[in-house]
This record gives sequence, structure tokens and C-alpha cells, in this order.
Amino acid sequence: MNVEDVVQWANNSIFDQTGEHLTPLHEAILTGVWQRQKYPQIAKEFNCSESHVKKEAAKLWEKLREELGEDLNKYNFSSKVEKKHRVSNISHLHDSLLQIDNVICGQFIQTIKSSQTRSPFPPDSPQNKSQSPIIDLTDAPELPYFYDRTSELSTLKQWILQAHTRLITVYGLSGIGKSAIALKLIEQIQTEFDYIIWLSLTHTPALSTLQTELKQFFGRSQQPPLPTIIDYFRSSRCLVILDDVQNIFSSSQLAGQYLAGYEDYGKFFKQIATSSHQSCLILLSWEKPKEIANLEAENLSTRSLHLKGLGQQATEIFQQKGLVDEEKWSDLLALYQGHPSWLNIIAATILELFDGSVSRFLSDVNDLFLGDLEPILDSHLERLSGSEKKALYWLATQNESVDISRKATESELSQPEFWQAIQSLARRGLVEKVLVGGRSLFFLNPVFKAYIQCR
Ligand SMILES: Nc1ncnc2c1ncn2[C@@H]1O[C@H](COP(=O)(O)OP(=O)(O)OP(=O)(O)O)[C@@H](O)[C@H]1O
Ligand SMILES: [Mg+2]
Repeated sequence: MNVEDVVQWANNSIFDQTGEHLTPLHEAILTGVWQRQKYPQIAKEFNCSESHVKKEAAKLWEKLREELGEDLNKYNFSSKVEKKHRVSNISHLHDSLLQIDNVICGQFIQTIKSSQTRSPFPPDSPQNKSQSPIIDLTDAPELPYFYDRTSELSTLKQWILQAHTRLITVYGLSGIGKSAIALKLIEQIQTEFDYIIWLSLTHTPALSTLQTELKQFFGRSQQPPLPTIIDYFRSSRCLVILDDVQNIFSSSQLAGQYLAGYEDYGKFFKQIATSSHQSCLILLSWEKPKEIANLEAENLSTRSLHLKGLGQQATEIFQQKGLVDEEKWSDLLALYQGHPSWLNIIAATILELFDGSVSRFLSDVNDLFLGDLEPILDSHLERLSGSEKKALYWLATQNESVDISRKATESELSQPEFWQAIQSLARRGLVEKVLVGGRSLFFLNPVFKAYIQCR
């Protein structure tokens, strides 16, 4: 949404309620707040006193509360408008989908009309006739807000649309935004596909169950049904997102080792990567599946993206939460690694304990405050193997990034065990690499470091 849309939306909304249009000062307040100006600046530009702006702003928020909620204020105005706009777009989409829903077996299948042209499909591709991708996002979470991620999205689009990568893993810590970025990606590239489906592995389905579900989805609009998933992947452009993939991996082992009885997933992933077809499978996971590194090394149409924290734009989270002391927001962002879920949780704590004051939180708290983050960090620690825990505890004692060719003498692990543990921790996104003077050095995620140190 741009600022003109916002002003027009507010004008229409207030006109519907009161029969009155926005005053020029109200327009200036909306424009200023949307552009993150403060009241004194708005007053200066409008050539009136700050107290007048405050009084008029209070009236304006009052008029918009019916639309945007009782807790509306200048800090959360932008995010509330964005959210409302998004929900209204989704519900328009949903209305049109429900009609299609009735036609196709009562299942929630979303069909989105596309006016854009797609990449060339085989002439007999069923969706080529209708130009309408069929989308099922029943299993996907909601996406209330989305900031940043421009470069990650363009990397993913390049891999999928230009390089025709067949298997992509997006891995990283819980709550880092894997599901969020995948949803945004779908929004941006949906017209390039015939079918898009999102399936979650939360309940650890057997591979055969997953494949049956996929075949049912593809088969509803393609008759006669095809024998295998790869056949559908060849005949149409399918985008399949498998979320929560870590559920099929074992705890207490190195990263990406399948649970007993789930090893056939590994073969399935490999088949997707190595067979010729025009589709893409995206895995969202806390850890990289073990065969991905080898497939990547052989450059077999496989890529993986380690999703890290958000950049500066994530301070919008603080604005949306209604935090104050904007000059300290960047410090808070850096402290919690731009991790969106952690930022949301810490922002809630700051509201609860410090009336939203980031300055007071930062000055009153000596060590890194973890609070409600601890159970989340526990859930990562619980999954580690014995050797990973040893390497992690050793890394937590190091003041600087480490050169792993230097044997960790204090650690009880042999050199190969140590290397394997570091590699596995990196495949979970817990350990990261920096290049210093042409050498790779490794360091533990600073929030985990603080967490381990205080245990
Ligand atoms: N780019 C973003 N902008 C704003 N909020 C975000 C962004 N990415 C994630 N979030 C928020 O952070 C929270 C966690 O995001 P998400 O569910 O995508 O994480 P995840 O990596 O999929 O976690 P998990 O592995 O536990 O499923 C959500 O509340 C989401 O709205
Ligand atoms: Mg997720």
C-alpha cells in the first residue's frame, strides 16, 4: 500500500461513518505517521502547533478505531492498516475460491486467476488451457505481517525461475521466518505454476500417505490419474512446499538423520533432485536433510538457503507492538539477531515489564535477557547429539570465532568428531561461518551462547 491508498482508504472509511471527509490536517497526520514522522515534524510542516496536531490526531484515531481496533495509536497505525488491507485481499480471494470449492469435491482448493503469462509448459499441460494455477494452502500458517527478505526472495526466485532448481531446502532456527518467506514467495511466483500445494509434516506422515495426498490433489483436475508424483512433476509445473520437515528427523543424532521407518523420504528427495521434470519441491526445516549436502556438492539441481535474522526493517515489529525509544530499536534488533519470533516475544516482555520502554529494558538488564525464549532454545538443545552438545558447550566458552583446524584441545572430542559436530551444528543454523583473512572461522549464535553460559 502506498500513502495515497492509505489516505483514500481512511477518507472513505470516515465518510461512511460520519458523512465527513478528512480535513487537510488529518491528511497530513496520516501521511506523516505513515512515513514515520513525529508530531513536532508534522506540526512544523503544517505550520501549526504541536499541541494542535496532538489534539487532532486523537480525534482522528478515535474515528478510525471502529475499523482498526480499540488499541489504535500512532505507533501501530501503519501495521494495523497493512494487516487490514491484507486480510481484506485474502477474504476477497477467499470469496471467489469458495465457489470453486463447491465444484471440486468440497475440498479447500484455491484457484487464482492469472492475467500474467507463465513460462512455457507442454502444450498438453492441463493448466495451460485455463491459465489458472490450482493452489491448496490449507496446511499453511497465516502471515499477518511481512517485512524485509528482499534479497532472500530474489535468490529463491532466481533458483526456481531461472536456474530451474528442483529441490530447495530453506533451513534455520524455529521462528526465523521459513514459513513466512515461503508464503511470500508463493504470492510472488504463483502464476509460474500449474499446481501449488503446502503440506506440513507436523504429524510425521509416512511417505506413502504424503504421496497419496499429493496424487489426490493433482488427480482432482487431471484425468486419467498418473501413476507417480514424478509423472505429475513432468507433465505440469508443480510447486510443493513441505513444512516442518524436522519432524521426520531423529533427536540425539547428528542433523538430518531420518527417524526409523522414514528413510524412504531421503530416496524421494533424491529422486526429485535427480529426475528430469519441470517442478520444484521446497523443504522448510530446522535442519538440512543429510543427502542435501552431497546433492548440492554434485550440483544436482539442489540448493539450500540458511535463513538468518531480518535486517533493519524488522524494527517495524517494534512499531507495530507500540514500543517507544525508537533510537534504541536498532540495538535491540541486533541483540536478538533480527530473529522475528524472538523480537516479538521480547517486545511483549518490554511492554509487560517496562511499559514499552526499550531504553529502560536495555539499561536495566545486564546480561542478555532470555525469559520466554528459554523453552524455545531448550527445544533446539534437546535435539542435539552428544558430540554436538560437547562442541556447543566448548564454543560457548570461546570469546572469538574459532579456527577449527586448530584442535579444540580442551574438548573431549577427537578431531574428526569435532569437525563432524561443527558441520552438523551448522546444518541446524546454530553455528555460523565468517571469512576472516581468507580463512573460515566458526562462531556460535550469540543468543545460544548466552543461553548456554547461563545454564
Ligand atoms: N519477514 C517477516 N516479517 C515480519 N514477521 C515475520 C517475518 N518472518 C517471520 N515473522 C514472524 O515470526 C514468527 C515466526 O515465523 P515463521 O512461522 O515463518 O517461522 P518458522 O521459521 O516457520 O518457524 P518454525 O520452524 O517454528 O515453523 C511469525 O509470527 C511470523 O509472523
Ligand atoms: Mg514454520
